[in-house]
Amino acid sequence: MQRRSFIKYASLAAAGSALTFPLFGRSVAPGEKVVVAVMGTNGRGLEHIRALTKIANLEIAYICDVEDNALAKGVDLVTKLTGKKPAAVKDFRKILDNKDIDAITIATPDHWHTPAAIMACAAGKHVYVEKPCGHNPGEGEMLIRAARKYNRHVQMGNQRRSMPNLMGIMKEVHDGLIGNAYFARGWYANNRKPIGTGKVIPVPANLDWDLWQGPAPRENYRDNLVHYNWHWFWNWGTGEACNNGTHEIDCMRWALGVDFASKVASGGGRFTAHDDWQTPDTQVVTYEFDGNKSISWEGRSCNNYPGEGSGRGFIIYGDKGTFVNNGGDDFKIFDLGNKLIKESPKGEQANTINPLGPGETLDSYHFHNFVDAVRNNTPLNSEIAEGHKSVLLCHLGNISQRVGRTIYCDSKNGGKIMHDKDAEKLWEREYEKGWEPKV
Ligand SMILES: NC(=O)c1ccc[n+]([C@@H]2O[C@H](COP(=O)([O-])OP(=O)(O)OC[C@H]3O[C@@H](n4cnc5c(N)ncnc54)[C@H](O)[C@@H]3O)[C@@H](O)[C@H]2O)c1
Repeated sequence: MQRRSFIKYASLAAAGSALTFPLFGRSVAPGEKVVVAVMGTNGRGLEHIRALTKIANLEIAYICDVEDNALAKGVDLVTKLTGKKPAAVKDFRKILDNKDIDAITIATPDHWHTPAAIMACAAGKHVYVEKPCGHNPGEGEMLIRAARKYNRHVQMGNQRRSMPNLMGIMKEVHDGLIGNAYFARGWYANNRKPIGTGKVIPVPANLDWDLWQGPAPRENYRDNLVHYNWHWFWNWGTGEACNNGTHEIDCMRWALGVDFASKVASGGGRFTAHDDWQTPDTQVVTYEFDGNKSISWEGRSCNNYPGEGSGRGFIIYGDKGTFVNNGGDDFKIFDLGNKLIKESPKGEQANTINPLGPGETLDSYHFHNFVDAVRNNTPLNSEIAEGHKSVLLCHLGNISQRVGRTIYCDSKNGGKIMHDKDAEKLWEREYEKGWEPKV
């Protein structure tokens, strides 16, 4: 066996076809080249490429997308940034059989995240999967099991976990900078336009609609879904709470040091237009945790009037002071008299412990951390078990919204929903037959 040696092979009947996957991937030795494939390159996947190409001794060997224009965009960007053209594939299962690939980054629609990540783990690949790490709570749990079973590094794309100023200030908050941090309030605001009423039309020739839907139960192709608008349909998306709420809810959970909620209540709806959009465009979710701590998150998809001067951010309230974040790698700390006592450095110099050199985007830190783990087996900043806890809160907000009442959860048992059959049903989803993810 060459340097990329595998332990053993297993046949998996997964995702519509029986493919033979290696059970465990090779370990990349320190200093060795890390070889990566990027899946889904219309929007976010292009940022994956930009971040990954900043990392030394790394090759993006494959770009994968089921839509021709997005595929071409990904291939062109890698070629432009590295001078080397990656292979282009539509069906990511073809990548899984390639033993030279160490890791896959996933920036597809949400319904593909967990199924693709599980298959990648089973094929011996490490995984960087965008938030939300699952389309529903059960998928996050499945992905954790897959990461453990196949012994793979799985990092979720909640990149604030790797931002230097936030990492530093969170440590100080945990060490008592604002006393007991007991309440957090976060928000996200945008000016999204209505999406209209979709017409069923023939699937465009440049799109593999069957593979785009993959694990999701089949629906007709309509002219207002691809790209991006799928976010607002429950069959594929998870709404603004999981789309953008994940970032601030994750930071608030991080600051408060809480894991699973005991009580979740959501109010809101699709208030600003009459169209196909199913998820709320206006939503306020409150979470209660053991130990007298709580979080509140407000999403306004269609009115971007800023909170605290910023379209997104969070505030952490403590019994000795307050921590204000304006959406990026920034902080302001106030004492109880509201006097500013500490502030993050401004602008690019904000990257105080920059491992990548000045000028890199803040995203890159998280990818750097992931590739370090793949190469050197160092700890992930957002290991999937932690990513899942934050995404679970977003899902629970949506579940409370969908059943129209407060839900109660077992904070000592993975945040499982209690005494509510309708809500419990939304812990998992139905799959298209033959595409059920299995660990
Ligand atoms: N971490 C962040 O800050 C951040 C920012 C933006 C988006 N995201 C996440 O990234 C994901 C993608 O978002 P987007 O805005 O780029 O969506 P998008 O709709 O613009 O792009 C998704 C791409 O995935 C492709 N795709 C669908 N099924 C596929 C499959 N089976 N194989 C390969 N490609 C497939 C689509 O053709 C499309 O090109 C979402 O889950 C979103 O929440 C994260």
